[in-house]
This record gives sequence, C-alpha cells and structure tokens, in this order.
Amino acid sequence: MRAVLLRAADNRGLQRFVMRHGRRFGAYRFVAGETVDEFMEAVRQTNGAGMRVAAGLLGEDVHSREDAAGVARAYCALLERFAVAHADANVALKLTHLGLPIDRELAAANLESVAAVAAEHRNFVRVDMEQSAHTDATLAIYRELRERGVDNVGTVLQAYLYRSEADLRALLPLQPSLRIVKGAYLEPPSIAFPRKVDVDRNYVRLLELSLREGRFTAIATHDDAIIAHAIEFVRREAIAPERFEFQMLYGVRPRLQADLVRRGYGLRIAVPFGAQWFPYFMRRLAERPANVLFMLRSMWRG
Ligand code: FDA
Repeated sequence: MRAVLLRAADNRGLQRFVMRHGRRFGAYRFVAGETVDEFMEAVRQTNGAGMRVAAGLLGEDVHSREDAAGVARAYCALLERFAVAHADANVALKLTHLGLPIDRELAAANLESVAAVAAEHRNFVRVDMEQSAHTDATLAIYRELRERGVDNVGTVLQAYLYRSEADLRALLPLQPSLRIVKGAYLEPPSIAFPRKVDVDRNYVRLLELSLREGRFTAIATHDDAIIAHAIEFVRREAIAPERFEFQMLYGVRPRLQADLVRRGYGLRIAVPFGAQWFPYFMRRLAERPANVLFMLRSMWRG
C-alpha cells in the first residue's frame, strides 16, 4: 500500500483529478489552505495553542530559473510577514523547489538569499531532505553555508538511510542544527532499511548522537515510543530545553501535540500550504493506511 501511494505521487493524471477535488479528498486536514492569508490564519491558531510553526510552501518541481527565484522571493516575503505579525514561525524548504534539478549553484544562491532575509529578522531556515538522489547535494550545500559562517540554517537526516549515521558524524564539527526524521520517500533496500524496526532503532541512535553532540536537535516524529525515549534521554543527560524541540506535522496526532505542550515541551508544527499539495498529500496517506479510509470517508461525505 505504501509503495503504491508513493508511486501515485508522481502520476500526473491522478494528480490533476485529485487536485480538482481537493476539499472532497480531505487534503485540507494536512494542508493549511492554498493562499498566504489562509496559511497565516493557521499560524495564528497554531501559535495561539502554544506551538511554533515551520512554514512550507508546497511544490517540488520548478521548470525555470525564474520560477525558482520566485519561490525564494515567496519565502522571503513570508519571513517579512512573520516579522510584522510577530509570529513564532520559521521556514522549511526543499532545494528542488529552489531549482536544484536545474542548477545546483542556483539552488544554493536562492537558499542563501532566503537565509539572509531570515537573518535580518533573527529567524531560521531549515532545508528539508528529499529523495536520495538529492542527499549529497543537499548536505554539500548545507556544509558550504555553514563553513562560510551562515549559522541560521539547519538540515534534516533520514533514519531509513544506512548512510545517515556517517553523515551525522561528518557534520558534527560544524555544530549542526539537525531535524531527525524516519524518511518519507520510496527508497530501495540497497540504501535504506526495509524494516520499520531497524529504521526506529537507527532513529534512536541518530537522535542520541545529535542531542549529545549537535548544536540543536528537532525530534520530528509522532512515534509514542521514540518520544518517550527522547523525554527520558534529555532528562538523564540534562540536555537544556533550548537545545531541542519536538516537531510534528499539521493535522497529524493533534491530541499528542496538545499533550506535549501541556507538559511544557517546545513543539513546532510543520504547516504546509499552497496550490501544489498533491505529492505532499500522497506521502501523508502513505504513512498511515488508515488515512486512506479517512480520505474515502471525506469523499463519501462530499
Ligand atoms: P511512524 O510512521 O512510525 O508513526 C508513528 C505514529 O504516528 C503512528 O501511530 C502513526 O499512525 C502516526 N502517524 C504517522 N504519520 C501519520 C500520518 N500521516 N497521519 C496520521 N497518523 C500518522 N521526511 C523526509 O523524508 N524529509 C523531511 O524533510 C521530512 N520532514 C519532516 C518534518 C516534520 C516536522 C515531521 C514530523 C516529519 C517529516 N518527515 C520528513 C516525514 C517523516 O520522514 C515520516 O514520514 C513521518 O514523520 C511519519 O513517521 P513517524 O516518525 O511519525 O513514525
């Protein structure tokens, strides 16, 4: 089921069909609307509930240098808007959206321009991790920025990749800000753990290493066992609250989100918005087969 849904994320015909009926398919459980105004309302509500926001403008394929520069400008405008609204929100973006498949240097320059605007507002930019074809370039661009002293950027490591522990160790001298995730794409067993139990074990290994030796760790998961382990670990190792936060996805396990806030932990919600929501929506369905039932029920209710 997971593989079918992840392959469907690339199907243009299905994409056109589902996007014509977005609300009926229940996509708005996971996506905070298509416009900046709809999104800002979600930011206001999320902040009001005691949670920080990581903004994601949806879209992964850009076809021209102008489009990629337009995405960078949209992120800069969002950062300005956060400053005006005093929102507790930063941005998380994908390098493919900033032009990586067109030209690596273009994506790097676009990222640097967004980071510069973020720095003016003492804000932060996280670079999401995408399919394994982009892992090397993403880590190299992150490394270049850090080596040039840009310190308001962070990136992501995926626990399903065998390589991630080596990547983490190689980044440690740069005092990285890392978000640890399990990994959301379809990857072959030659490079990724096929069994969930191994992914979970590797997640804990990466998490402990990053918490002990990294600058900042975003514990991005909805997994009860890993969250309980993280809470016990930071207590035992006396990790200061400003060196970590939990992160979850908009619309996923809202009761667990509220519970963490009630217990006093820092929590950031990744809130995506924009018209190009189809691949993101399919990845969320793939994470939990029950979400497909949720989608079918939404369609049934109309
Ligand atoms: P797991 O899948 O084991 O789920 C744990 C529990 O949460 C289960 O009970 C499950 O049912 C519930 N749950 C999980 N997903 C759900 C969903 N969609 N709907 C309803 N319930 C759900 N990936 C990536 O490759 N690159 C990236 O940059 C990011 N960035 C990112 C940011 C943030 C803030 C988060 C939380 C996640 C990501 N991810 C990501 C996605 C990540 O790789 C992973 O696919 C999801 O977080 C789901 O995995 P869990 O860790 O929640 O565990």
